Amino acid sequence: MSIHIAAKPGDIAEAVLLPGDPLRAQFIAETLLTDVHQYNQVRNMFGYTGLYQGKRVSVQGTGMGMPSLSIYVNELFRDFGVKRAIRIGTAGAIQENVQLRDIVIALAASTDSGINHIRFGGRSFAPAASFTLLKTAYERALSRGWQPKVGTVVSSDRFYTEDPAEWKLWAQFGCLAVEMECAELYTLAAKYQREALTLLTISDSLITHEQTSSEERQTAFTQMMEVALETAIS
Ligand code: HPA
Repeated sequence: MSIHIAAKPGDIAEAVLLPGDPLRAQFIAETLLTDVHQYNQVRNMFGYTGLYQGKRVSVQGTGMGMPSLSIYVNELFRDFGVKRAIRIGTAGAIQENVQLRDIVIALAASTDSGINHIRFGGRSFAPAASFTLLKTAYERALSRGWQPKVGTVVSSDRFYTEDPAEWKLWAQFGCLAVEMECAELYTLAAKYQREALTLLTISDSLITHEQTSSEERQTAFTQMMEVALETAIS
């Protein structure tokens, strides 16, 4: 039992999938896991443990943005001994060759957030993915005939920016997409010496302003979930 997660010791698996939306956590638990047990409903941030291909895995909602994700991931690593954490989320494309519905695997995350600026006293930390998880996820995606894009992303503290062209600087430095959580997940994995990965589906483009329909989002998300679950149990 931690402040925000009402689980008993042993309730949470060593491998946890982290969707931002708690209803996505519920969807994964109900459609892809068996022997499901709901361990958390504090603040409606649902968490479940079940079996995928006979192996234990948990799914925990994190909410949107790094401050919210940070609370859940700190508690998962510190209080529940979680060893592998895989964020599954959506992102906005900032490169021409990154298309709607693509799967992006985040190698590392740049950020405009103040969190690491404060944490490291003005120094800069390089939040990076677990190579082992990344390699597994990449290979699993390829084996299903999908071609994920692997590269850096931007974790922003703002969905709505004053300057609508702010993303262009990150794009010039090769970042593929913008989301709001990865840098904190990777930093906490480094702090607790655990493994973390972020898988993203592209839900919109900051270049063309196109957006996916909710049906397209669901299909792309389901593909990503399968890759994430196979990586989590490997
Ligand atoms: N910005 C930040 N986060 C996002 C976006 C975006 O455009 N799309 C999906 N998540």
